[in-house]
Parts: sequence; structure tokens; C-alpha cells
Amino acid sequence: MTVGIDRISFFVPPYFIDMTDLAHARDVDPNKFHIGIGQDQMAVNAKTQDIITFATHAAKHILTEEDLETIDTVIVATESGIDESKAASVVLHRLLGIQPFARSFEIKEACYGGTAGLQFAKNHVTLHPKSKVLVVATDIARYGLNSAGEPTQGAGAVAMLITANPRVLSLNDDNVMLTQDIYDFWRPVGHDYPLVDGPLSNETYINAFQKVWQENTRRNGYTLADYQALAFHIPYTKMGKKALLAILENETEDEQARILARYEESIAYSRRIGNLYTGSLYLGLISLLEHATSLKAGDRIGLFSYGSGAVSEFFSGHLVEGYEPYLLADVHTALLEQRVKLSIEAYEELFNDKLDTTIDGTFDDDTLFSISEIQHTIRSYRTK
Ligand code: CAA
Repeated sequence: MTVGIDRISFFVPPYFIDMTDLAHARDVDPNKFHIGIGQDQMAVNAKTQDIITFATHAAKHILTEEDLETIDTVIVATESGIDESKAASVVLHRLLGIQPFARSFEIKEACYGGTAGLQFAKNHVTLHPKSKVLVVATDIARYGLNSAGEPTQGAGAVAMLITANPRVLSLNDDNVMLTQDIYDFWRPVGHDYPLVDGPLSNETYINAFQKVWQENTRRNGYTLADYQALAFHIPYTKMGKKALLAILENETEDEQARILARYEESIAYSRRIGNLYTGSLYLGLISLLEHATSLKAGDRIGLFSYGSGAVSEFFSGHLVEGYEPYLLADVHTALLEQRVKLSIEAYEELFNDKLDTTIDGTFDDDTLFSISEIQHTIRSYRTK
């Protein structure tokens, strides 16, 4: 029996800004954002579209009625939690209509949370092969207007259904984990935005990747030739490439070109969306599978997960025979094409228009699963 990703999809909010517009507004050379950071567009949300809105849409893309009767665990990974106590997955469970005898909980460790959820799900299904687990990584990545991190913001969710005998990617038992107690990016309770040591975060990301890669080689005996592609956590698309280049030095030109070509395929969606925090690695995986020109069933894909603070994990999966029809490239392309481009003024207005849950009220955002009402701090979501 194999266990892994049976279905996978993402959702992003209906607005975006162009990074050239942002560069002009911030008096920066646009090439810094497009080439230096590697971002072309950035997803933007209204205050009525939160992590539950994104998670519900992403999950709806992949679940059938039968799945709703079979799922027995709902996991939300996020670092944009909306409650210090109650898990977003409990609300998600209701909005999706999942059968009641399920466990639901939320996971936190910066951008690593989605991987923690995935690995929990894999272990659960390995013990209970008839179970299905829904894992949703959902976030709003915000650093503040005019901050150094501003061009690396984004918003959205990735949903994955984990089952026995999955139809897309079976997960292997070769995980290498690494924990290091550092402060490169953190958000103390009460802070709207994270505190970031940008250079330290870049350096720690690259070092962590080198460490887990070397340990993977030592422990599992794999070399680059064993992987048809590597997918990375993508806080901005240049980041994964910097880490990748650090292990390519001694490879032949052909090997470098092969693995870098797959990397470009893995960042196509992120270039237009930005950072999804917990979902970024999995957005990269979707992008790779949906843009790949040379992947085929049986290929091994390596995945590097990084969560500031810092926890990293490198693991791999094999593409399953006949996986192609289970991808949702058309849905994802349409989602990106239908978005509305905002001016920088409109983006700044949305950014500053914060949801105040201490004031009761209703909202006129008529999009599905947006927040319709706040009563006694409780959010209601539009279900029709
Ligand atoms: N043309 C082309 N390139 C240009 C350029 C131009 N005109 N101007 C500058 N650049 C290049 C720079 O040379 C630099 O390239 P290298 O990194 O290859 O040297 C790149 O653009 C960025 O320039 P700076 O380093 O000067 O950028 P910055 O100081 O404004 O900040 C940042 C960059 C640190 C990534 C900042 O955006 C940030 O703090 N982001 C948030 C933190 C982050 O994403 N860290 C990543 C690792 S942590 C993580 O992965 C977890 C997570 O999700 C947050």
C-alpha cells in the first residue's frame, strides 16, 4: 500500500497588484522585484476574505460527496490564525459539510506547518488505510506597507487530500528533519506583522537546505540524479533558486540545466501570487506538476520545507501512474485570469481597511465564503 496526495489544489483571493506598479510607487527599479526578488504579481485580499474563505474554496475544488463522508481528520496549517484557541479547521469542517465523527485541529510552526500536517496525515492513513485526511495550508502573508518584506507578501490556500493508494504523489519514508532555535522571522502575540531579520532568514534558509540535503545523501544515499525535480518553500521565487544553486556547484552543466528547468516550472504560479507561507511549497509542487514538460509517472520529486524559527524537512514522493487527469490546471489558470488588478492606491486602501471583530456588523462582499457578518466577535461566512 502507498500513502500520499490523492488530490491537490490552490485558491487565491480575487485581487492582485503588478510588481512594476509597486516598484514605481516605492521608487525602486522594477528589475529589483521582477529579477532580484523574482515576483511579477502579488495576491491581495479584502478584509472580508480570510484564511477560512481561502481554505474552503481550495478544499471545494478537490472533494467529492464520498470524500465528505470518509474524511476523519481535518488539519489547518496557518500562521495567520484568527483565534488564539479555536482551530480554523472546526469552522472549515462545518462549511464543507464533513461527516461529524472527525477530529479537527490547527498546526503552527511558521511556513513549516503544512508539512507537519501532511506528515501527520501520512502517518494516520498508514495506520488506518480507509481514512482520508484533509490538510489545508492557508495564510495571509503581510509585512506592512513600505516594509522590506512588502514585495514578498501574498495570500491564499492549498488543499490536499491524503489517502491510501493516492492518485497523484505517493510519499516515501525518507524524511530528514532539522530544528534550530533562531529568530529570523517571528510574530509575537499582539503584533499585526512579523518581525523579520531578512538577511538572517535568507542565510538560515540556504544553510538549512544544505544541511538536510547533505544528511539525505548520507542517510538515504541519494544524489541529485535520483530526483527528476526539486520543489522548494517559496517565500519569493529567487529564494529557492539561491538554495538550489548552493548544491549545484559540483554538478555537470547538463545536470544543472535539467534541475533548474524544473525549478522554473515550479515557480510559475508563485511569480503571480507571492508568498502563501504554509502553502508555498505545495503551490510550488502544483506549479511543477501543471507546467512540467518532462515529468512522468514513477519520477521522484524532492520537497524542501522551511519554517522560520526554524524547522526544515526534506522528503520525497513518486508520481503515480496516470496522475495527469487528477490535476486542476484549467481551474487554476481561470482563477488567476479572473482576478482584478488593483492600483497601488486601491491596494493600500484595502491594506489599511482592517477587520475589527470587536464591532458587530454586516458586510456587502457577495463572494462565496466571504465574511458576511460579525456578531460578538464571531465571523459568519456567506455560503450562497
Ligand atoms: N535589478 C536586479 N536585481 C536587483 C536590483 C535591480 N535593479 N536591485 C536589487 N537587486 C537584487 C539584489 O542584488 C538582491 O539579489 P541577491 O539576493 O541575489 O543578492 C535582491 O535584488 C534583493 O535585494 P536586497 O537584498 O537589497 O533586498 P531587500 O533588502 O529589500 O530585502 C528580503 C529582500 C530580505 C528578501 C526582504 O524582502 C524580506 O525581508 N522578505 C521577507 C523575509 C523572507 O522572505 N525571507 C526568506 C527566507 S525566510 C522564509 O522562507 C520563511 C517565510 O516564508 C517568510
